[in-house]
Amino acid sequence: MMTAILGISAFYHDSAAALVIDGRIVAAAQEERFTRVKHDSAFPSRAIAYCLSEGNLTPADLDYIAFYDKPLTKFERLLENYLAYAPSGFLSFRLAMPLWLKDKLHMRRTIRRALESPTKARLIFADHHETHAASAFFPSPFERAAIITLDGVGEWSTATFGVGEGHRIRLIDHIAFPHSLGLLYSAFTYYCGFKVNSGEYKLMGLAPYGQPVYKDVILERLIDLKADGSFWLNMDYFQYCQGLTMTGRRFHELFGGPPRASESSLEQRHMDLAASIQAVTEEAVLRIGRHVQAQTGMKHLVLAGGVALNCVANGRLLREGTFDDLWIQPAAGDAGGALGAALFVWHQLLEKPRPLMGRDLQQGSFLGPHYSTEHAARLLAGKQLPGQRFIDESELVDHVASTLADGKVVGWFQGRMEFGPRALGARSILGDPRSPAMQATMNLKIKFRESFRPFAPVVLLDRATEWFDLKPGQESPYMLLVATVREDRRVPIDPEARRIMQEDPDLRHRVNVVRSEIPAVTHVDYSARIQTVDEERNPRLARLLEAFERLTGCPVLVNTSFNVRGEPIVCTPEDAYRCFLATDMDVLVLEDIVLTKDATTRQAGEAAREQYLAQFQLD
Ligand SMILES: [Fe+2]
Repeated sequence: MMTAILGISAFYHDSAAALVIDGRIVAAAQEERFTRVKHDSAFPSRAIAYCLSEGNLTPADLDYIAFYDKPLTKFERLLENYLAYAPSGFLSFRLAMPLWLKDKLHMRRTIRRALESPTKARLIFADHHETHAASAFFPSPFERAAIITLDGVGEWSTATFGVGEGHRIRLIDHIAFPHSLGLLYSAFTYYCGFKVNSGEYKLMGLAPYGQPVYKDVILERLIDLKADGSFWLNMDYFQYCQGLTMTGRRFHELFGGPPRASESSLEQRHMDLAASIQAVTEEAVLRIGRHVQAQTGMKHLVLAGGVALNCVANGRLLREGTFDDLWIQPAAGDAGGALGAALFVWHQLLEKPRPLMGRDLQQGSFLGPHYSTEHAARLLAGKQLPGQRFIDESELVDHVASTLADGKVVGWFQGRMEFGPRALGARSILGDPRSPAMQATMNLKIKFRESFRPFAPVVLLDRATEWFDLKPGQESPYMLLVATVREDRRVPIDPEARRIMQEDPDLRHRVNVVRSEIPAVTHVDYSARIQTVDEERNPRLARLLEAFERLTGCPVLVNTSFNVRGEPIVCTPEDAYRCFLATDMDVLVLEDIVLTKDATTRQAGEAAREQYLAQFQLD
């Protein structure tokens, strides 16, 4: 008798589904990849259908369906919050109500109806932060670990800590809404003109350009951060309890004006604000880490919740040495709640042990759909496109490596799609990090954005310490740690370049000053968001890096997600082909087939470009 558990997260942002059969993660995917609507928060019907097909199941075969939060408790928070701020919160309350009355309060009915066929499965509603905690601890490689969850808000909690031991987790303490590190970071994201719930990454990328000159003001006026990492926000400055915006008049007065309009130019003030809130966040995370270590006595730490995607803070926490090692759930945001909910039922409620095997149980986070070479061949044949099919993998990787060394940009579509916001080499765009032009080229011609951020590097695990300041053997398989480029890989900067780096109002000029042997992935403070890879985690990508190193002496590639600005990462070969066509990508690798863009496809792509880009809202 097998036990099949479906986890669901929905109706907030980043809806997702996950399937766990007898404790093994069989599948997990975000709804946005199927609907092509970024951060899609609708009920994840298509992600559920995919998960069931991956497990060869129908809804009738499911034993449990686990939802990632408790709708009634959440509703109670909304109601209490409204009453506390009434009548000023009426507008946001009124806007939220129809969906609550229609779907959210009747989640049992909504779920059963959405499955479209009968199921005997028991429905379980887990606590939101318990699902984050479960998603962090259960797939981790640790027998015992401290747990920290940090996000915007779930039902009431915004931060929790606890311990995981064997197959059980126990949350010990929490901080409740409206006091929230995630919402504090989002308030600055909003104020600096980026989108809440997606632009936090940009704010983190902006921080190295600034100085933390507002850090003290933030600590004095906005947040009372205690020595143990607990905190209290001064709600006089925030608007998210009663309005439709994050920040209020007093906040704007404190920081010298109204919020920046999105897409308008960035001033030094915004960079300094980014540096300041980043510094405060790191300080809070470090204090929480120290407190939790002292309280639990654990050597290892696991993390989840949206704030755990702050890889700069994670890198600092690791360097600080409070814990010997950390593991971060790659789908740390609310999508990961679907996985956490399913694992929570299996381990915590059904009391099933965890099979620890040295490495984590996340399987590289390659938990999404896979498409065969035959599928890709049919697609290209239908378009009369002459792709080159490789029978021998070493010939394929040698070919692609030399293309990359020639400065070409390669769409790399291999195996099962990643679960989580980062592309990890299954749906990636790759390039040569040694090229001083690569950052600008990939941004303008492929992503269609003007970015002040460098790209992330993927590096062979056993070469990582030769390029980055990482401890020997330190893995970062999910691109969730930041470390600096090694001193001996940096290059001297002449006075003119230094002037540009410090003063040029156009941040793209600053980021494009060559600072290291791998400029496309080196930020202005020499930091890099690292992904390590080895034969076991992703054999084909590891072999590609080896081939590239044989040619160039460099075991590093640029790895960015396979999409344009505002587009969800591609899921199917069809999505990949459309994105390849509409951009200036040079080569598309679909499983064993390599397609090189010729003049005709290039022209066709340029004609289709505008229409393609118009589908996606800027993020
Ligand atoms: Fe959350």
